[in-house]
Amino acid sequence: MRLATIDDVRAILDIYNESIPKRIATADLVPQSLAARTQWFQSHDFTTRPIVVAIRDDAVVGWGSFTNFKERSAYAPSAEISIYVADVAARQGVGRAILGDLLARAVSCRIDRILAICFSHNEPSLKLFRSRGFEQWGLLPDACELDGIRRSITILGLKR
Ligand SMILES: CC(C)(COP(=O)(O)OP(=O)(O)OC[C@H]1O[C@@H](n2cnc3c(N)ncnc32)[C@H](O)[C@@H]1OP(=O)(O)O)[C@@H](O)C(=O)NCCC(=O)NCCS
Repeated sequence: MRLATIDDVRAILDIYNESIPKRIATADLVPQSLAARTQWFQSHDFTTRPIVVAIRDDAVVGWGSFTNFKERSAYAPSAEISIYVADVAARQGVGRAILGDLLARAVSCRIDRILAICFSHNEPSLKLFRSRGFEQWGLLPDACELDGIRRSITILGLKR
């Protein structure tokens, strides 16, 4: 595990875009552009909102981030966590390693409320987060539409 650099953005984008057609991980419906991901990367102040990558054989096989839950300043202690693992590395402990790395950084990032915002049918990520103590803090029933199917959002939270 290490902090991401601007040179990792292409790999981060490729892993993210790989997840979109599966309709289980993200509410984005079409692939993101490199420009949009670069802007996302540059909007992160790594002292409080780091992006990390998991490296295997010199390649990025997964990434994770803390992102502002809301832009308004009073939300600073609360951050959204995201974790994406490349298909080639699935189910080999990479997601667990990224989660562990980010949780270890939370206190120094002055984050004490961590939110995981997942589709309610995203069983792999719900299991992963619950295994580290996340509990359900919210539910947005049928908040999204994916290919004509309404899908709910489960908000999991963890206090540090
Ligand atoms: C969720 C995700 C990050 C898990 O990463 P991973 O590296 O495959 O997971 P790990 O090998 O570290 O497994 C950790 C735990 O996650 C759960 N899990 C992972 N894949 C699973 C699957 N296909 N089915 C059920 N549980 C699964 C299990 O509890 C697993 O523990 P176990 O192996 O002891 O049973 C990965 O599937 C992914 O990138 N999904 C798409 C993006 C996404 O949905 N991110 C979450 C929203 S931010």
